[in-house]
Amino acid sequence: MNTSQVKRYTITAALPYANGSKHIGHLAGAYIPADVYARYLRLNGKDVVFVCGSDEHGTAIPNQAIKENTTPQAIIDKYHTQIRDCFAQLGLSFDIYHRTSEPIHHQTSQEFFLNLFNKGLLEEEVSDQYYDEEAKAFLADRFIIGTCPKCANPKAYGDQCENCGTSLSPKDLINPKSTLSGNAPVLKSTNHWYLPLQNYEPWLREWILESHKNDWKINVYGQCKSWIDAGLQSRAMTRDLDWGIKVPLAGAEGKVLYVWFDAPIGYISATRALFSELSQGQRKFATPQSSFEGAKEEDWMKYWQDDETKLVHFIGKDNIVFHCIIFPIMLHASQQFIVPQNVPANEFMNLEGDKMSTSRGWSIEMHEYLAGFPGKADVLRYALLANLPETKDSEFTWKDFQAKNNNELVAIFGNFINRALVLTQKYFENRVPKRVLLPEDEVVLSAIEASKKAISDSIEAYRFREATASMINLARVGNKYLAETEPWKLAKTNLERVGTILNIALQIGANLSVLCEPFLPYTAKKLREMLSIQDLKWVDAGAVELIQEGHLLGESALLFEKIEDSVIENQIQKLMEKKKSMELENTPIEPSKPAISFDDFSTMDIRIGTIIEAESVTKSKKLLKLLVDTGIDKRTVMSGIAEHFKPTDLINQQVTILVNLAPRKIMGIESQGMILMASSKEGKLRLLKPHEIVENGSKVS
Ligand code: 2FM
Ligand code: ZN
Repeated sequence: MNTSQVKRYTITAALPYANGSKHIGHLAGAYIPADVYARYLRLNGKDVVFVCGSDEHGTAIPNQAIKENTTPQAIIDKYHTQIRDCFAQLGLSFDIYHRTSEPIHHQTSQEFFLNLFNKGLLEEEVSDQYYDEEAKAFLADRFIIGTCPKCANPKAYGDQCENCGTSLSPKDLINPKSTLSGNAPVLKSTNHWYLPLQNYEPWLREWILESHKNDWKINVYGQCKSWIDAGLQSRAMTRDLDWGIKVPLAGAEGKVLYVWFDAPIGYISATRALFSELSQGQRKFATPQSSFEGAKEEDWMKYWQDDETKLVHFIGKDNIVFHCIIFPIMLHASQQFIVPQNVPANEFMNLEGDKMSTSRGWSIEMHEYLAGFPGKADVLRYALLANLPETKDSEFTWKDFQAKNNNELVAIFGNFINRALVLTQKYFENRVPKRVLLPEDEVVLSAIEASKKAISDSIEAYRFREATASMINLARVGNKYLAETEPWKLAKTNLERVGTILNIALQIGANLSVLCEPFLPYTAKKLREMLSIQDLKWVDAGAVELIQEGHLLGESALLFEKIEDSVIENQIQKLMEKKKSMELENTPIEPSKPAISFDDFSTMDIRIGTIIEAESVTKSKKLLKLLVDTGIDKRTVMSGIAEHFKPTDLINQQVTILVNLAPRKIMGIESQGMILMASSKEGKLRLLKPHEIVENGSKVS
């Protein structure tokens, strides 16, 4: 389909699992690029539907419920709300942010399944699957973990290894264990409905490998080719689970649709829900830029069933196979839906030299950023856009974030706009001055049209990083023009020339207020308020006289603020602390030592005593020399606790002491017994003492 044949756009951004917070790597992978694309198209007056929502099924949800000791419903409610609100604050302009737990989604997914089933396109098969005898449950996808056969990660899931990204099935795992009971599973037979992917290989070869050879990204095309070349196989579209969408067939009790069957259908049900709400007047416009006036309930179909609709899926690279192979096969096989025109998947964004991971605590979660940098959504958008992992993995560092803000947004964009506005206020009563153009002014003005074209071309080719660079480059041109012409000096001698310079600067500023909108929506709005201009469209940009001579400007304010070193250092510190605390949380409690007999235990004589003297030991960092009143006697005990306690803090403390440990010499001093301590995961020692004072010599048994 060439651009002229496109009547409307359906843009989807991967539905995040509502099993936890999402981090800035997710934003860079799918959501920010999708939003730039949607905003750009809307500014161009295109008919766009931009959908997203929470993916609330699959084993990831009940697994998290077990971890948080709550119900799956509580998990999806908590994280759906958190993710939706963060997305909104970050300016993601979805027309709808839906949820797969909604009845309309259950209905749409079941209809989809039945359509394939009734066409005879699903194959029922009985096979042996892993089963947890204690939990009495089949172990699908994330209910089973084991060692990844590819990278040896010992915590790979039954559907995917998060370390190397390999897509797995439970039987690929080495040493599999149930996440429900921790036990090794057994095999048990069960029936499921399979989609025979291999039957669609000729179609896929033609559709992807031939038709999209030149317009799909190399990383996406390459992954698809290797999947197809490796040979496609039947894939189960159902699971034995109690959390999910019921399989709508008689005799399928206890079975639900595979999460990767229902989740992408979520894009369709979100669109259905949107038009249902619009038609009932529950919302007038989906987003400020979208106009769906007079929308009818059935209009959703145009966005999914009309060949003149361009469907684009924005995802991260771990979702490629589902969006380029499995879901398109489902859509194609249904004979009811269009298939995507493009799937511009991104690679991953690393963080400070390591892979981003919520579970390892090495991440910046969206809500953490928003709490730390209120009102600075655009700064994050910019830092991510300027560094998108479009062709290879990229890297986010706090220092780079600070540099992008201070050296580009503040020093170039903000400084340029501020100078233009402040000088216009000072010399021209805040009105756009008259201009008399010189040839060098024409050169500067020509950058406006050129920038607009460069930005458009890049966005249309899904090169958002390049588009962002072209946008900031226009601000750079304006800033340089002011720096070179120095209107603040010229004002003393040639006010007429100053007027021309500022007029040009303000034209660039007005153009920037449109051209930056896909990337920096909050800034665009603020800038338009400062220039006192109405919302503009993309078609307006490029004009060398976008605001007329005499136009009264609004109040100026700073577009961006400098971020100080201390703020950045604080964030780095927080990241380190989070990682450390997650490491501790993930460290398993040491297993119990082998059993001993009661007689063995009763050979130990443990008493309560009181420390009456405590002193450091010369030449030892670890040891303290203690004098303990054991009730039996007063004796010296050498204890390796100097790094945990100051001698003075120990005086008069009751402690638990093993009194019949054979004496031994430590650093030349005889130690008679051992003080017992509680040692936590992070290695911190605490005294063990009775909850109220008891007589020295009291027995511990
Ligand atoms: O990887 C994920 O987070 C999935 N929940 C993405 C689903 S995208 C679509 F299919 F819904
Ligand atoms: Zn792996």
